[in-house]
Amino acid sequence: MPKEMASFTVNGKPYELIIEPQMTLLDVLRNQLGLMGTKYACGTGDCGACTVLVAEKPVLSCLTLAATVKGEEILTIEGLADGNNLHPIQQAFVDAGAVQCGFCTPGMILTTKALLDENPDPTPEDVQAGLGGNLCRCTGYVKIVDAVLAAAETLRRR
Ligand code: FES
Ligand code: FES
Repeated sequence: MPKEMASFTVNGKPYELIIEPQMTLLDVLRNQLGLMGTKYACGTGDCGACTVLVAEKPVLSCLTLAATVKGEEILTIEGLADGNNLHPIQQAFVDAGAVQCGFCTPGMILTTKALLDENPDPTPEDVQAGLGGNLCRCTGYVKIVDAVLAAAETLRRR
C-alpha cells in the first residue's frame, strides 16, 4: 500500500502529513508532530495511556490507524491548557495530588474531559466506570476520582 497525504487538525492547527498505511495515530502524534504528551505503554489497548480525543470522543491512539482519522479534529493533552492557564481538569488533578509519576495523566485527563462533556455531574461510581479503561499504577485511584469530581464542580460553576 502506498504512502498518502492526509490532513488532520491537531489542537486547532491544520496539518498536511505523509502517512503510511500501517501508521497509528500515536505514531503520527509522537513521531511526526513531536507531541510527546500522548504516552505509549502497552500498545495493545489495555492501559489508556495513549488516549486522545477524536471529534471529542476518546480513542486509543495506539490502536487507531492514522488513515482512519483523516480530516478529523484531534485533541491531545498539549491542546488543553489556555496559554499558561491550566484547564480546570488539569488544575484539579494537581490540586488533588492525583499526579504521581504522571505517565497515565494525559490519558486520564482527556478521558475525563470526554466524560464530563457528556455527564457534567457524575457520581463517584460514574467516574470509576468512565475511567475504567485508564490504568494508574501509582495513585490507587482515590485521588484521581476526587480530582474528577472537583473538576466537575468547577466546570459546572463556569
Ligand atoms: S498504549 Fe494504547 S492502550 Fe496502552
Ligand atoms: S500517576 Fe503514575 S501511572 Fe498514574
